[in-house]
Amino acid sequence: MTERYYLTNETAVQYIKMAEGYDGKELIEKLKSYLSAGSTVLELGSGPGTDLEVLSQYYHVTGSDFSQQFLDILVEKNVSNELLILDAITLKTDKIFDCIYSNKVLQHLTNDELFQSIKNQLHILDDGGSVCHSFWAGDDCYEMKGALHNYHTLVELESWFSPYFEIQLLEFYDEMEKDDSILLIGKKLKN
Ligand SMILES: C[S@@+](CC[C@H](N)C(=O)[O-])C[C@H]1O[C@@H](n2cnc3c(N)ncnc32)[C@H](O)[C@@H]1O
Repeated sequence: MTERYYLTNETAVQYIKMAEGYDGKELIEKLKSYLSAGSTVLELGSGPGTDLEVLSQYYHVTGSDFSQQFLDILVEKNVSNELLILDAITLKTDKIFDCIYSNKVLQHLTNDELFQSIKNQLHILDDGGSVCHSFWAGDDCYEMKGALHNYHTLVELESWFSPYFEIQLLEFYDEMEKDDSILLIGKKLKN
């Protein structure tokens, strides 16, 4: 679906305000058990850049977003990371990474778009590369202010990722409420 939210300066600034006080530190702590320090990481949907900053303490991180508004805000903040304008579905880049990370970004894709994204992630990951993605848990799917919010279950995520990735961690965590979110960490399987 075509997203409208996040694509204007007003909505980007609105999201930044709403997300104040939230970060992916807990997720990145988990990732550190599976991904060596110094690895190259592509973050999808960096948005305000909160996780970009935390990830950069351990990894060589490329930030990205499909919204130029967020990238402009990151440039204004003098972020030193390389930044790409990148759609999480098509992932059109010739760069290759050790890991692809996203925090509450793939929730904006339809199921079909998520399948496309998973397959395209394989093309830009090194052999044995990793993915680390968070999702809202459940079976809701609704559109709000022009953005899709597509929740997922453990069973769905396992069935979609496991043909291509060895699932190393798939578990609930608490973002706003108990078990309202899911973290998936996986390692690309050999062809
Ligand atoms: C809920 S926000 C999460 C932002 C950031 N990861 C965080 O944890 O605060 C979703 C982010 O995904 C981006 N986004 C939405 N759809 C996208 C797509 N198809 N490709 C790339 N980024 C997308 C938005 O611009 C926004 O930055």
